[in-house]
Amino acid sequence: MKASVIAHKDFTISKIDDRVYGAFLEHLGRAIYEGIYEPDHPTADKDGMRGDVAKLVKDLNVPVVRYPGGNFVSAYDWEDGIGPREDRPTRLDLAWHTSESNQVGIHEFADWCATVNTEMMLAVNLGSRGVDDARNFLEYVNHPGGSYYSDLRIANGRAEPWNVKMWCLGNEMDGPWQVGHKDADEYGKLAANTARAMRMFDKSLELIVCGSSNSDMKSYPDWERIVLEHTYEHVDYISLHMYFFNPEKETANFLTMAEKLDTYIETVASTIKQVKANKRSKRDVYICFDEWNVWYHSKEQDKKILEGNSGWPHAPGLLEDVYNFEDVLMVGLILNTFIRRSDVVKIACIAQLVNVIAPIMTEKGGPAWAQTIYYPYYFASIFGRGTALDLKVNTPTYDGKYGDNAGYVDVSGVYNEDESTISFFLVNRHGTEAADVDLDLQGFAAGEVIDHQVMTHTNLEAANTAKNQTEVAPRKGEGAKADGGKLSVTLPPYSYQMVRVKV
Ligand code: AHR
Repeated sequence: MKASVIAHKDFTISKIDDRVYGAFLEHLGRAIYEGIYEPDHPTADKDGMRGDVAKLVKDLNVPVVRYPGGNFVSAYDWEDGIGPREDRPTRLDLAWHTSESNQVGIHEFADWCATVNTEMMLAVNLGSRGVDDARNFLEYVNHPGGSYYSDLRIANGRAEPWNVKMWCLGNEMDGPWQVGHKDADEYGKLAANTARAMRMFDKSLELIVCGSSNSDMKSYPDWERIVLEHTYEHVDYISLHMYFFNPEKETANFLTMAEKLDTYIETVASTIKQVKANKRSKRDVYICFDEWNVWYHSKEQDKKILEGNSGWPHAPGLLEDVYNFEDVLMVGLILNTFIRRSDVVKIACIAQLVNVIAPIMTEKGGPAWAQTIYYPYYFASIFGRGTALDLKVNTPTYDGKYGDNAGYVDVSGVYNEDESTISFFLVNRHGTEAADVDLDLQGFAAGEVIDHQVMTHTNLEAANTAKNQTEVAPRKGEGAKADGGKLSVTLPPYSYQMVRVKV
């Protein structure tokens, strides 16, 4: 199979917002406890945070982490997680049918974010609570001092405000599974009122209103239109979520979920435009894709706990998907989609970061390791910063269950002007044919290949485990050639690659 790509220096999509490589951590399963926090772990620091996990996170250069949920936030009282640890209450978490010890709260999370060099993105509870919760939490987190909540923060050991800029107005409020679920009008009004109150405190906050939990929701895409009609002038982003699944083990179909993602983004971008036009507004609202990942491997094993047949355990293993090589391809395609849609998708968060549908796994008292999907996320986050190129791609295509005209060769290109490099991220969706890809770099001075990484495996189901942590890992590629503004590379069947050229 042959494919060709034209990359022209003047044909660009957008400057990519670095925050598109963000992540998410929820009080769910072992994400926090035994994930980032395990005071008895041999690598734990003075705050009880695991050093081995912090290292894997730091290596990813995660720009932002959303916290504390997720479904968890919709019945969460943030006040439970402040003050002396021994006084913090254990609560029942209705979302995941577990107990929450509150040993980690906003202070511990903020300190951890500083350790791993990331920014916080906080969600307020608009399920069981409302405007008051939001304004009080905001005052606690961002006000310098001299008021009830800011002084309480100071008394709890943190003198400086954290100055968190990004705030989510609830989570998945369209979902009937959500504590305090609302219809679009009800939620839209509450979100607008909450946003107004938060902006009275600080006009410069970046506020994110809930869009749909997925594009199969009955209320989609009217939900977006109605919610934006209430909130358009008060928010900066609308949040979307999507999880990718393949229980039938139909790889070709599974991989067309990237087309479904693209359509979802396109539809919501159009809805944003429609509401903007209706309102004769001058401001822009963008997409914050703050939950995305493959999620299905753990569904069966989680039923017992989620259906309430295990009591209320604290931090049990939940949503612990063990990712395989096939998921590398899917995650590569998702990230390529975000790069190509960087004109409208400004923030995105892989869900989640540790143990819970996550690129990083841990064992209690044992090792932490990179799951298969860690690598495409790593390559995009480290080398995908810059300007997205509007590539002209000529590739054979196929039709699948979730979308038609899926290119067998899927590619995104990022030009980094400061470093004079282009990074190409390529996926071959063909299961039996290799793809010879010719890339024509127009308007760029002739380049040389400076890095070439390949991920491929004979077994789509191969995974990394505590005992075999590198079964699926990138290896240095051979054979990518750059000559006189032309780059050529061969993609083996079902493979992911990154090729970087100096231009
Ligand atoms: O990330 C797991 C869960 O998925 C989140 O809590 C929720 O927002 C979504 O349904």
